[in-house]
Amino acid sequence: MSDRRVLVNLRGLLTPDPAQAWAVDRIPDAALALSGGRVAWLGPASDLPAAWADAPRVDGGGAWATPGFVDPHTHLLFAGDRAGEFNRRLQGATYQEIAAGGGGIRETVRATRAASVPELVASGEARLRTFRERGVVHLEAKTGYGLELEAEGRLLAAYAELQRRGWSLAVTLLPAHDLAPEFAGDAEANAKAVAEDWLPELVRRQPGVARFCDVFVETGVFSVGQGRRIFAAGQRLGLTPRVHADELSWTGGAELAAELGAASADHLMFCSEAGMAAMAAAKVTPVLLPGTTLFLGMREWAPARRMVEAGCRLALATDFNPGSCPCQDPLTILRLGCLQLRLTFEEAFTAMTLHAAQSLRRDDLGHLHPGARAEVLLWDLADPLELVYWVGEPFRPRYLPS
Ligand code: NIG
Ligand code: FE
Repeated sequence: MSDRRVLVNLRGLLTPDPAQAWAVDRIPDAALALSGGRVAWLGPASDLPAAWADAPRVDGGGAWATPGFVDPHTHLLFAGDRAGEFNRRLQGATYQEIAAGGGGIRETVRATRAASVPELVASGEARLRTFRERGVVHLEAKTGYGLELEAEGRLLAAYAELQRRGWSLAVTLLPAHDLAPEFAGDAEANAKAVAEDWLPELVRRQPGVARFCDVFVETGVFSVGQGRRIFAAGQRLGLTPRVHADELSWTGGAELAAELGAASADHLMFCSEAGMAAMAAAKVTPVLLPGTTLFLGMREWAPARRMVEAGCRLALATDFNPGSCPCQDPLTILRLGCLQLRLTFEEAFTAMTLHAAQSLRRDDLGHLHPGARAEVLLWDLADPLELVYWVGEPFRPRYLPS
């Protein structure tokens, strides 16, 4: 049985072109031919090749078609929330002060350690549904609220179950998300446990589930040297580095990411010019998280324009987590990308589709050129630019009928 079909009656189609840096195709009155769940042809409807003349039609209803969003940085699984901490921040306490007092990430760690795998799976699945309703078709999801082997193991088991249920997610091991309370501030011993014991054991328990590993390289958390050792251990296990880098201060995280050939360096509000040049040369994707800058009330936005000028192909992500960005909304990030990071609409859109997918090593997502998965969003808008222009409008895409 053939599953060839042609998506017709599109007002237009907007997609990044994976063959050219930052190029976006904007095709009015487009058609999209699909076969085997993948794109086989795209172009103006009037140019549809004769071979597709008899294929069944899917009515796009006059919508704009785009690829689905890819979110390359989330902390999807955690228990509890930090609304109380948020209120303290509104009254003047800083994120770092709260963390230094035993709150922050460690508050979520206490709640997450008490959660069972079925509870983690249930809340994770509800969040994945929300992401999908808003157009996110694939996302990266980190462990990191366990900070000890058994709790990190439960988070990884929950991700494995979500993958078994068919959710499209790339898992990152982040047991070095903060100093574990058990190590009483001994970052060196904590880093050694992560590198020598926890990472190998997690991979042994759930082979093939995690693809990446991450370390929070930050003043007062893990140093560049400790990060380097943890990442080396991850690489020996087949895990590609993604780095929480230069988020709250400059520590040389971007430079470390470049040295390691990491898939990404994330946050980068305090990235150096040398870090930008190094990421461009090493083809590390800078993943910028403007929702976090907003939610932490910081004044310095990541230097997105300078990164583009340095030759970086940057991506944007939500950083969804309970402390620094409880945001599951790709449109908020797209809007901040344009309005605060000063990206053009096409650049921000490419950052949330093609570049996000490339940072997750997925060439079949983030665009609608031949070979791409048929993860098509249909937007009932006169022009895709409206996604940014109508600030605050909760636009929701339609998906193709399966
Ligand atoms: O990406 N930097 C470390 N991790 C998160 C914050 C996590 C939290 O506050 O719970 C981040 O900002
Ligand atoms: Fe993060």
